[in-house]
Amino acid sequence: MFKQQVGVIGMAIMGKNLALNIESKGYTVSIFNRTPKSTNEVILNNPNKNIKPYYTLKNFVKSIIKPRRIFIMVKSGKATIEVINYLIKFISKKDIIIDCGNTYYKNSIKMNNKLNSMGFYYIGAGISGGEEGALKGPAIMPGGNLTAYKLILPIFKKIAASYKNEPCVNYIGKNGSGHYVKMIHNGIEYSDMQLISETYFILKKGLNLNNKQISKIFENWNKGELNSYLIEITKNILIKKDKNKKYLIDVISDEANNKGTGKWMCEEALNLKEPLNLIMQSVFMRYISNMKKQRLKASKILKCSENKYKIKNKINFIKKIKQSLYFSKIISYAQGFSQLTKASKKNKWNLNYSNIAKIFRSGCIIKAKLLQNITNSYIKNPNIKNILLTKYFSNIINNYQNSLRDVIIFSIRLGIPIPVFNASISYYDSYRCANLSTNLIQAQRDYFGAHTYKRIDKNGIYHTKWLK
Ligand code: 6PG
Repeated sequence: MFKQQVGVIGMAIMGKNLALNIESKGYTVSIFNRTPKSTNEVILNNPNKNIKPYYTLKNFVKSIIKPRRIFIMVKSGKATIEVINYLIKFISKKDIIIDCGNTYYKNSIKMNNKLNSMGFYYIGAGISGGEEGALKGPAIMPGGNLTAYKLILPIFKKIAASYKNEPCVNYIGKNGSGHYVKMIHNGIEYSDMQLISETYFILKKGLNLNNKQISKIFENWNKGELNSYLIEITKNILIKKDKNKKYLIDVISDEANNKGTGKWMCEEALNLKEPLNLIMQSVFMRYISNMKKQRLKASKILKCSENKYKIKNKINFIKKIKQSLYFSKIISYAQGFSQLTKASKKNKWNLNYSNIAKIFRSGCIIKAKLLQNITNSYIKNPNIKNILLTKYFSNIINNYQNSLRDVIIFSIRLGIPIPVFNASISYYDSYRCANLSTNLIQAQRDYFGAHTYKRIDKNGIYHTKWLK
């Protein structure tokens, strides 16, 4: 029987596109889906491809050359776990399962250990880039056994996006680390999107610009330091019209959904004691956005000040908004990478941050020009605690911070919700403050609970009998 070189399970849009991507790079591919309908559609809509459909997992497995390389792209969580548990009934020792979903990294660790103990390999590979990325080249973040990784690497290199001829894939580290990095990617994606949305609102509500004008502004910004995939799509979104010739953005409900990866990153941040306030606020904004009924009621009860605040020099103020966006974006990436360094230490992953930043340079949702600067910083010094402390980033931040202060004051006066811009200046002012107000917290803790405190003028641990 003629066998295929690669297997792909899951024929929803992402899995289908991944299979087509792999096939287009010269591999023969076996495909399987829980329901045959999707499998048949792939075959029907893609004639003359080296793709063979299978309708039972057993036959699917049998159809692949050993050691088998099987990509799984089904819904993360229960569905992925079920597929793998069923699949292991048929595979052989040394076969490699590549879990491409947004699997929770702790489940990735569990699955890796389970499969390894049975003699199979598991690669937890975060894949980013949406539908188009899966088809034309995603960013790939694989973690797991290094031997297995090397066996998949030729395929990864061919199917990944590339940045100046470098494929956007690098070995992340031991088990769980690939999915962890994907979780960080997604958290940053949340704050990037929220910051762009706040920017859009300031331009719209604060400066009274229309969709076309705002789109043009994003288009211009995309030519400079803010260049990114998300700015690019935003400029397109803003000018898209529906059948009734209405701007689509104006009729889309503001209730923003999520699949939980941003929340995971926040939970992790709390466990690692990482003050991840931009991404947390971005997650909270999605939650507030879903309190639609309450917000509608509140909008009739709760007031904003009557303060009218006009901008005299719009062009100059738009420049300030641009600098505010870049400032906040840098703070968010600084926090994301700072969390990575803590997670790496805790899990003994020995992560290579410049290699991770390199992966993000193309193919993924957070693809941005900034990532080359982050890459450079980590190449120069792999032990950076926080990129804000590098000469390159501290220069930009120092230059732009006043713009953000002006933009925040303006927006707050008008009652425009900008929680993530606020979070970014709060973090910045706290992080750069040598002596915070938290000395008072220590005193209060000691006062009511004898929790003790340290002094700045001498060593030791102290307790005061405050009422004596
Ligand atoms: C990607 C994306 C993707 C994610 C969606 C939706 O890298 O291609 O991160 O993995 O699932 O962006 O995420 P939310 O539903 O949580 O917004």
